[in-house]
Amino acid sequence: MKPSHPTTTSVLFICLGNICRSPLAEGVLRKLADEAGLADRIVVDSAGLIDYHEGETANPRMLSAAARHGYRLTHRSRPIRRADFARFDLIVGMDTANMRALRSLAPTAEAATRLHLITEYMTEHTDVDSVPDPYYGGPDGFEWAIELVEDACRGMLRLLADD
Ligand code: 4NP
Repeated sequence: MKPSHPTTTSVLFICLGNICRSPLAEGVLRKLADEAGLADRIVVDSAGLIDYHEGETANPRMLSAAARHGYRLTHRSRPIRRADFARFDLIVGMDTANMRALRSLAPTAEAATRLHLITEYMTEHTDVDSVPDPYYGGPDGFEWAIELVEDACRGMLRLLADD
């Protein structure tokens, strides 16, 4: 008999501090997967490239912007670990600086093939080259990050649902 859920995909979202963009992406993908009935086929987590905020919840401005859009972010910041490169099918960075750092950390050439820039999954905002860091800016940056991340997560979910 064919298993009802043949494929599980694990996704690790990466940003610099793991307090704004990647915890958002983790929360958005988890909620969309839940709503689509795909929660048992997707494992999702997030991590940062620096450990400066380790143990912290998402930034308060990110938490409240996400909550206004219906996303409850529960993640605590942690830095990426070597073992992550073996554990996750997709390791998804937010900007080209993230990707450069990830490429230099990837322990094997095979692991490097699992690195993706988040814009690859967007289908509405096809003219952007990153999810810009909202940390140092005003409220609009958080709204923009949510819009871009939702676009990417919807696109990613469509791909995973077809697997
Ligand atoms: P994130 O934003 O990478 O989206 O979590 C940042 C948060 C903190 C810092 C940089 C970016 N920081 O340098 O402390």
